[in-house]
Amino acid sequence: MSHPILKIISSDGCQSYLVGCPATRACLLVDPKVGRESIYTSMMQHYGLELAAVLDTHTHADHLSAATKFMGAGVPLWMSGSTQVKRELKGLEHGQELAVGELRFQVLEVPGHTPDSIALFGHGLVVTGDSLFIGGLARADFVGSDAELLYNSVRARLLNLPGDTLVLPGHGYNDLLFSTIDCERELNPCLRFVDGAAYAASLDCSPGAGNSPAVDANLVLNLHASPELPESPGNAAACCASPGGSTAVTIEEIGPFEAKTIHAGLSGPEQWVDVRDPYEYESGRIPGTTSIPLSELGFHLPRLRGHDPLYLSCRSGVRSMTAAKTLQRLGVASHPVNIGGGILGWQEQGFPIEGLPAT
Ligand SMILES: [Fe+2]
Repeated sequence: MSHPILKIISSDGCQSYLVGCPATRACLLVDPKVGRESIYTSMMQHYGLELAAVLDTHTHADHLSAATKFMGAGVPLWMSGSTQVKRELKGLEHGQELAVGELRFQVLEVPGHTPDSIALFGHGLVVTGDSLFIGGLARADFVGSDAELLYNSVRARLLNLPGDTLVLPGHGYNDLLFSTIDCERELNPCLRFVDGAAYAASLDCSPGAGNSPAVDANLVLNLHASPELPESPGNAAACCASPGGSTAVTIEEIGPFEAKTIHAGLSGPEQWVDVRDPYEYESGRIPGTTSIPLSELGFHLPRLRGHDPLYLSCRSGVRSMTAAKTLQRLGVASHPVNIGGGILGWQEQGFPIEGLPAT
């Protein structure tokens, strides 16, 4: 089977996922956030996906889960069997297999951030929820958190996965979208302690110290059987990353004129990747570029290796910057270059575009 359909939806540092079966179009919505429902729905419609289930990786403290908004339409909610959430749900156990169309995923319990934290592993990816982050671990200072347990469960349950497994965390900071197990083993500073006790001692925090009125208000609604949720999400009430992570990278960026000169001397289409969605690429693209949507970049890492420099573009230069930072940290591209202004800047200068719809 080809890789799963994957859409990463980022919002205020929170990351939700649509994971779909290419054969049946059934999909799973992971960690949906209040206020973003129309985005998930329009994406499912656009890509012809049918929602099979919603999965909350844990009881969220920093933002409101939109799970109940989809449950009203008969969609089941999947969570850890140990959760204290009072809504009707399918309780999952460690090692259990979950089917999404023809896809099969394994449930992994990774407690520590919360007692009910789970991850989902299969088809070359692991959705880690709030446990293993890019260059860090989840915070462990909420009521019910346990920093030592977090460190030990991440090491025992996630770091032993195949090295090329894509790491898809519940939060993304520093403009990085995904990682791999190999990369986290090598670069994550929070995993360099001799054991969980040493990691916990380094944090100097106690469970409950991170709870604030905003966090507690989120928990009341996220634990409720049928909460009255607002239309607007508000901003995240807390950053969910523990201290100690460091992932800053600097990327070279060039404008349209320099890009035009480089374009004339490209060694092949794989040296310039357009990370917009396929429908955007089909409706107008810079000639001789390759289309790999940002969300699915992780499934194409082997073919991207060895192109140095690797040029990356999108509509305006924002998504391609995220791609460049992510690929550089992974070591896939040692010299990624972002096309500042994207295809809009290129088009403004009258440079060639192919595939524009007829007018
Ligand atoms: Fe969380």
